[in-house]
Amino acid sequence: MSPGKVDSRSSYKIASIPADGIGPEVISAGITVLQKLADTLGTFDITFEHFDWSSDYYKKHGRYIPEGGLETLKKFDAILFGAVGAPDVPDHISLWGLRLAICQPFQQYANVRPTKVFKGTESPLRKCNVGDLDWVIIRENSEGEYAGQGGRSHVGKPWEVSTEVSIFTRHAVERLMNFAFETARSRPKKHITVVTKSNAQRNGLVMWDEVAAQVAAKFPDVHCDKMLVDAMTTRMVLKPESLDTIVATNLHADILSDLAAALAGSIGIAPTSNLDPTRENPSMFEPIHGSAFDITGKGIANPVATFWTASEMLAWLGEKEAARQLLDCVESVCEKGIVTQDLGGKSTTLEVTNAVCEEIEKVLGGRK
Ligand code: IPM
Ligand code: MG
Repeated sequence: MSPGKVDSRSSYKIASIPADGIGPEVISAGITVLQKLADTLGTFDITFEHFDWSSDYYKKHGRYIPEGGLETLKKFDAILFGAVGAPDVPDHISLWGLRLAICQPFQQYANVRPTKVFKGTESPLRKCNVGDLDWVIIRENSEGEYAGQGGRSHVGKPWEVSTEVSIFTRHAVERLMNFAFETARSRPKKHITVVTKSNAQRNGLVMWDEVAAQVAAKFPDVHCDKMLVDAMTTRMVLKPESLDTIVATNLHADILSDLAAALAGSIGIAPTSNLDPTRENPSMFEPIHGSAFDITGKGIANPVATFWTASEMLAWLGEKEAARQLLDCVESVCEKGIVTQDLGGKSTTLEVTNAVCEEIEKVLGGRK
């Protein structure tokens, strides 16, 4: 930089929470690749601060997030999250202790799950090629079936009763629908499918449909159709090319996004973003795959979901071009067959990571 010239480069501070299972392995790979990208492009700076909040931390301290932890996170531009869940901690404790304990207070109400057949990967569907399956699932992320409303009485007795109440508020459904329709509008097909189950769930999901219809009226340029969630599974399998943006409740989208990832070839590549579209709080980015204890510590976890997640994070931070360049480099590496076991390859996490760094150097090096 010449003397006196002000450096206008953006600088991003990221909180990294690798947590459990393969989380630390894939997050470390993601950070390596992001730093390589930032160094090579020279157009932005990115720094990471690590938090050891995890199931091990919980076992030592009796909580996942220390006092004041959320206030600390608020100072960051984004959160890069690995996975939470351990064999010796009940899943509902770990989920509510860490992931939901961040998503819900930060009102990261839009969970975004893009899915596509990556170059170099194969869909298990016959005749489904790159381009035929290119979806983005928008999952309601603040309430619905994950609202945590309910209770248990007479525990363990034959007359025990438990309730798990889904909550749908007009406020939350409306903000989510607006976000989903905006997303559909930003994509070339301008097409959204609203997933519902209002035939059986005759209160909350009837309101869900009504709000969707009201929001749809504000987006005349977006083609909108509606599917019952059960019928949606068959459409995803039989007519993948007929879908583009999909909006669904917390639980419906949880289930459909696993199906989507499997149809695209592997859950090892699927990313997710927990967004607070108001930008009042930092948003959180994570690979979908979870802790995967069966392969933890073996060095064979697929880092591609974290690379794609990192790309989504960059796009959210405003680095759209860098985000696209990163994803292109990752796809090129997959296309060369440098992939982990879950994608039919033999490469290790480190080999895939190094290959992506080399691709970044080859394609983007010398541009500074
Ligand atoms: C997901 C996961 C989580 C969820 C699990 C780990 C509780 O399946 O992000 O899709 O259901 O939300
Ligand atoms: Mg899931």
